[in-house]
Amino acid sequence: MAVVIAVVNPKGGVGKTSTCKHLAGALARQGRRVLLVDNDPQASLTKGFWGKAGANLFGPNDSVAALYDPRVMPMPGGIIRVTDFPGIYLLPGSRALSDRNMTPRPAWASAESAMRDFLAEASADYDVILIDNPPSLYLCSHASLVASDRVLIPAEPEDLAVQGIEPVLDGIAAAQAGPNPDLSLLGILLTKYDRRLAIHNAFDALLREYHGNDVFRSSIPLSNDFKLADNHRVPMVSHRANSAASWATIAVAEELLGRLAATKVAAA
Ligand SMILES: Nc1ncnc2c1ncn2[C@@H]1O[C@H](COP(=O)(O)OP(=O)(O)O)[C@@H](O)[C@H]1O
Ligand SMILES: [Mg+2]
Repeated sequence: MAVVIAVVNPKGGVGKTSTCKHLAGALARQGRRVLLVDNDPQASLTKGFWGKAGANLFGPNDSVAALYDPRVMPMPGGIIRVTDFPGIYLLPGSRALSDRNMTPRPAWASAESAMRDFLAEASADYDVILIDNPPSLYLCSHASLVASDRVLIPAEPEDLAVQGIEPVLDGIAAAQAGPNPDLSLLGILLTKYDRRLAIHNAFDALLREYHGNDVFRSSIPLSNDFKLADNHRVPMVSHRANSAASWATIAVAEELLGRLAATKVAAA
């Protein structure tokens, strides 16, 4: 059984997609079978593996959009793809999803449970399932909260990104009170962290004061290497294994597995 982790922050550009991709690389290097779910109509994660042209090959019926269509009953083997990276699998995103992601705060309808049911069926083939989400808390992000065991909130140590944290905590509370009582926070991960910036250090301290151990001890540094890895469409550990960016990614993956083990969730 895989542990399912929703990667959520309604602010764009905070590193949700990068976190999914680069963590997947580090976890796969450690022998974990990782399924990435590109639950964002922008399909950035899918483009991150196969480019824009590659991502455009996936239509409504052979992408994550199929999960939101009550007329389609996809089987995991039919829509999950292997990537070029051993141990990393991808359920592609599709812009066909965009007209599904309009509703703010929907009633818990079949769309949410469709993702949960689908992942439950796929679960035995993976150790970790990471769901990348759009920069909103509409249907897609809610469906991922219903389908997940844990939530990871990436945030740049800056005002706007940090403002995204509370709405996610509210979303977790709403899911706990409703369709997913077992959902819990895995942690807040500081991303794009520039330790030379006083403002980043200040937000780091503030977050730790306020959220305590919920903030990951390890963090992802701001580094051009991530941009280069994205440009080459590879996870960080496959781009430059011996780099600060790569070591930081591995440290986050290890901390993530440690946090799962501490709460006796599978996959650790
Ligand atoms: N640690 C990092 N250092 C430098 N650039 C980064 C880092 N993480 C992400 N980026 C860049 O920031 C941009 C936004 O990241 P992304 O993961 O797409 O955010 P989100 O999915 O939250 O919108 C991308 O261009 C990405 O290459
Ligand atoms: Mg993204």
